[in-house]
Amino acid sequence: MAFAPGRVNLIGDHTDYTGGLAMALALQLGTEVSYRADPASELIELSSSSEDEVACVPRSIGSDGSEIAALSPRWSRYVGAVVALLRPESGGVGSVVSDLPIGAGLSSSASFELALVLALGYRGDSVSLARLCQRAEHLAFDAPTGILDQLAIASGREGHAMVLDCGSLEVSYVAFPDEAEVMIAHSGVGRTVATTAYSERRQQCAAAEVEIGPLRLASLADVGKISDPLIRRRARHVVSENARVRDFAAALGGGDLQAAGVLMNESHTSLARDFEVSLPALDELVEWLQTVEGVFGARLSGAGFGGCAVALSRPGILQSQLEGRDHWLAQPGSGAHIRYS
Ligand code: GLA
Repeated sequence: MAFAPGRVNLIGDHTDYTGGLAMALALQLGTEVSYRADPASELIELSSSSEDEVACVPRSIGSDGSEIAALSPRWSRYVGAVVALLRPESGGVGSVVSDLPIGAGLSSSASFELALVLALGYRGDSVSLARLCQRAEHLAFDAPTGILDQLAIASGREGHAMVLDCGSLEVSYVAFPDEAEVMIAHSGVGRTVATTAYSERRQQCAAAEVEIGPLRLASLADVGKISDPLIRRRARHVVSENARVRDFAAALGGGDLQAAGVLMNESHTSLARDFEVSLPALDELVEWLQTVEGVFGARLSGAGFGGCAVALSRPGILQSQLEGRDHWLAQPGSGAHIRYS
């Protein structure tokens, strides 16, 4: 049996695929996969608490993507991608239990992939695990995601936030202060159009890099040299967001929660105006959160286009105010691990 948490991103969104910085927490919420290999079987069969239909994938499924794309139900594509990459020696039977909301921006799919990979017997360090599951994500849905989700889920540490360098894949830890808590609130809008718009943003960042080189090394002065105003704004978000992650890590580590909150608010504005990945429902929620007494800061979290907002506040402030809306108190937890074998 293996468990992998979900993750919430505190700051640093749309920076990972240019090798930038992000700061995230692994959650107490996550996915548990129980699995028993059966040497007589050629099929990997999984049932799930959050899906009606069973996923059933042949051990020998092709890894070029076409056989995976043809799998049904939809969630079995994740299983197909993991099986194609791991090629387990036999089939087997398992079950999946998750308490992560799906499509909320808390990485339910990466959480499932990491738990499944471990349950199927993969043993490797957290970076190899993250890389493998990023490939699975690409293979499953042709979704060109960065490595933020997988790296955060592989590397979580109880009571700590993580600074994730998505270029070097180094992770450093900041003890989460007792004087604050992280609340996640759903905007009420699922992330439907995310994949197309996400790929477009990636391409725009790549276009900026053709002009000024790697964004993770660029300054705002470099960004000013980009000729196309839209590409310039996209790059300005990435470059300024990397700087905010650094400042946020220092503020959180030094207990300056006011400063940390201001950086979160600035991050939201940058994501909404320069990167244009917010929606009216998310803006409204974030703007309201920012006005609540005792909230240090709030922003959209994850890819955007719906999903959740995240707020940093004094403990106990938001719980009662969020009644009637899906919300979760984030308790920084450990990374993906084997529960027993
Ligand atoms: C999604 C992707 C990540 C990252 C975020 C935005 O969660 O899977 O790789 O790009 O969006 O920060």
